[in-house]
Amino acid sequence: MNEEDLGPLEPIVAFAPGRVNLIGDHTDYTGGLAMPVAVQLGTEITYLPEPTSTIVELSSSVEDEPARVPVSMPEDPFEVAMLFPEWARYAAGVVAATRPAWGGKGNIVSDLPIAAGLSSSASLELAIALALGYEGSAAGLARLGQRAEHVARGVPTGILDQISIASAREGYAMMLDCNSLAIRHIAVPSDIEIVVVHCGVSRSVAASAYAERQQQCIVAEREIGPLRSSAPWEVDVIRDRVVRRRARHVVSENARVRAFAGAFDHRDVRRAGELMNDSHRSLAMDFEVSIRELDDLVSWLQGLDGVLGARLTGAGFGGCAVALSRPGVLRKQMRNRKYWVVWASEGAHLR
Ligand code: GLA
Repeated sequence: MNEEDLGPLEPIVAFAPGRVNLIGDHTDYTGGLAMPVAVQLGTEITYLPEPTSTIVELSSSVEDEPARVPVSMPEDPFEVAMLFPEWARYAAGVVAATRPAWGGKGNIVSDLPIAAGLSSSASLELAIALALGYEGSAAGLARLGQRAEHVARGVPTGILDQISIASAREGYAMMLDCNSLAIRHIAVPSDIEIVVVHCGVSRSVAASAYAERQQQCIVAEREIGPLRSSAPWEVDVIRDRVVRRRARHVVSENARVRAFAGAFDHRDVRRAGELMNDSHRSLAMDFEVSIRELDDLVSWLQGLDGVLGARLTGAGFGGCAVALSRPGVLRKQMRNRKYWVVWASEGAHLR
């Protein structure tokens, strides 16, 4: 097809939200369960395809330099790391995974805080993929975004962030099965507020610590089989003490996600809050992905009147805690803390 056959091209406007995980962390890469919501904050791209160009050029409201990525970019983490600085690697990863027929120019506007545990990178990936013309299922979009993330960061992260951003429905949390990618949408009870609070220490996603946790889960699975279908007593036979604790977190966290979904089904927000508190303890003690600042923040939140439960959210090693609270009670307490009151929002879409 040549250029004249195409007629004038219209700008494409794509939006992808961020996400916050209510419960079920460090379960996705063993095909376990999680329960995230997409949030109202996100990334919007206005993109004009240019059939005469072979470069995708994206400028961002929060970055100094535009990303200029050739459409022939290979899906190679080493090449991407050598050619591009930080944020442009995500653009490069998506271009490499999407392989658009031609280039174009786009502007990105985002109100998501970066490295705060709200998945600004997955939001960016999915917004770019839609802007570049991705057509297909939500699961396909999520897998594409995950591949882009692996290329951009060189860390084999799970699919939690991308699948929740691709599949969310307004007003609903998602019980995700990260093995089958089956999703049960569960209404968020109306008598609660979801509040995300930053602990003050930026999450360095200790890439190496994340990869080490994954490795320990693989070792556990070699010994007792898939953690997603293991019972607590099976974990007890694992020989290595550290690996046993990692596995205990994963197996108990999957059970907590199931219980949390049941609590939301019955509008039992107190039970949901207790499960969040248990989840934090398990992430801190057994999985060891918390830091002192997060532990202090979480115990402060848990002690406040009207707070039903609180836990670290996402990868840990810094970043944010998420709390469920009675509406309005937390805002008065925050003083100079960075926080966001979020609500369950729609997934990635064209506008
Ligand atoms: C990060 C990763 C996800 C998931 C969480 C922890 O957000 O990108 O895949 O592993 O950490 O639940």
